[in-house]
Amino acid sequence: MFIKTVASTPFSDQRPGTSGLRKKVSVFEQPNYLENFVQALFNSLSGVTGKTLVLGGDGRYYNDTAIQTIIKMALANGFGRVMVAKDGILSTPAASCVIRKYQAFGGIILSASHNPGGKDDDFGIKYNTSNGGPAPEKITEAIYARSKTLNSYRIADIDDVDISVLGETKIGDFTVEVFDGISDYVELMKTLFDFSDLKKLFASGFTMRYDALNAVTGPYARRILEEELGAPKGTVVNGTPLPDFGGKHPDPNLTYAKDLVDYMFGDNAPDFGAASDGDGDRNMILGNHFYVNPSDSLAVICANYQSAKGYADGLLGIARSMPTSQAANKVADALGIKCYETPTGWKFFGNLMDADKVTICGEESFGTGSNHIREKDGVWAVLFWLNILASRRQSVSEIVTDHWQKFGRNYYSRHDYEGIDSTAANGLMENLQSKFASLKGAKLGDYTVDIADNFAYIDPIDGSETTNQGVRILFTDGSRIIYRLSGTGTSGATLRVYLEKYEPDTAKQNQDAQSALSDLIKIADDLAGIASRTGMEKPTVIT
Ligand code: G1P
Ligand code: ZN
Repeated sequence: MFIKTVASTPFSDQRPGTSGLRKKVSVFEQPNYLENFVQALFNSLSGVTGKTLVLGGDGRYYNDTAIQTIIKMALANGFGRVMVAKDGILSTPAASCVIRKYQAFGGIILSASHNPGGKDDDFGIKYNTSNGGPAPEKITEAIYARSKTLNSYRIADIDDVDISVLGETKIGDFTVEVFDGISDYVELMKTLFDFSDLKKLFASGFTMRYDALNAVTGPYARRILEEELGAPKGTVVNGTPLPDFGGKHPDPNLTYAKDLVDYMFGDNAPDFGAASDGDGDRNMILGNHFYVNPSDSLAVICANYQSAKGYADGLLGIARSMPTSQAANKVADALGIKCYETPTGWKFFGNLMDADKVTICGEESFGTGSNHIREKDGVWAVLFWLNILASRRQSVSEIVTDHWQKFGRNYYSRHDYEGIDSTAANGLMENLQSKFASLKGAKLGDYTVDIADNFAYIDPIDGSETTNQGVRILFTDGSRIIYRLSGTGTSGATLRVYLEKYEPDTAKQNQDAQSALSDLIKIADDLAGIASRTGMEKPTVIT
């Protein structure tokens, strides 16, 4: 066949971050840039001959071009079949579901997640392995190593495949299958949640708004909420995936999903509000005039596991990323199960789920999910909440307030300083580390430092060690300040400061989180010299 080997020269910047390789579209548009990365990926996999590769993305700008290139390169590198989602629309959780269901060798997801899209914004590419989860670091590091020496790539000289029509195209022994990226996922949700109970909830007059932020979950949410569950048309807003997300920043948080937040805090607010991000793995949960912190959402879901039929037999364990609040630990203790603490990034949950150690996992960064797949899952979290609401018939605020009364409240907030100078950011982190020895036992305001360290993790399943995962200042009363630099940004550095304080006294649980944390916020700034080192008086995003 018409397989070409094209000479190329290596790029030095193709190291995948927390979640795949993310760069500006203009970087990906450089000749051979995408091709080199894909070839480095294929070179680092063995045994792909005749196997199936799943392919899709969040519909952002450059998806179409990348999909055609990857189909041609998969053919040239020996794959037997590429399953590409119709119109390229495949959420990250749906990709995980499809890889598992059809026992594919792996999958490529084209997305920069919650980063803005469009010609002048971000594009990304992630590889998931046969368990449906993000490639572990040994694969991403192997890709990076190969990318640095790569001098050619293989590509088939064939016509573009029409991905707007379902069906198969055969090219010799190679098959391109265009499949419906929505249906398999909807089927999986039906095995976990009782759709008839949820139908009754909507029939009883329950109201909600789902804001898909013009990103990938629109078609999933419309199919499930409006078609399957009978929610009125218009329940899903911004439901058509657009290449530039309609100019929105597709990140479901208080800053970027402000329209939804305003609506949920307005006069005609419905009972429930939710949003998801660019590729559908994040979620934000809101009630009528009520915001649910993602760490609390994880804890509430775990505490109410019996509400959902797929979980009613019990949870194997829970896992949370290190910066995520310890609210889930309280639930795990009450349930008599273990709560694992992992580095930031969903990939660290995979081994625990594969080894049947945990059922539900979560991150403070609006990520929640379970062992039904190997990615976090925005629509899943929304459906879980709907099950809780259907079985408890209380408002979101009543459910969360009840939870605090029972388990105590972990006041929690994350302060992000975006777009800061990388040298200043690294200096800030180094300075903190130089203080570890003197901090032990030190009094900072009303708090006494128990441990000051840089978080390291030894995977309990495969023994692999991951270091340098964030500076932790742990106080003797369980309060914490964590400092981390983001691994997903595409320009400059982002400093994340995570603040947490435990409040068991029910009389003191109804403060605004920022006020309750104000003393810790001040300590965090003083200790790290945030304002003086970054020149920023306040964070760009507070969640
Ligand atoms: C961020 C979040 C992290 C999440 C990742 C991918 O990574 O903090 O929890 O897993 O996005 O969605 P960061 O930019 O902090 O490295
Ligand atoms: Zn995402």
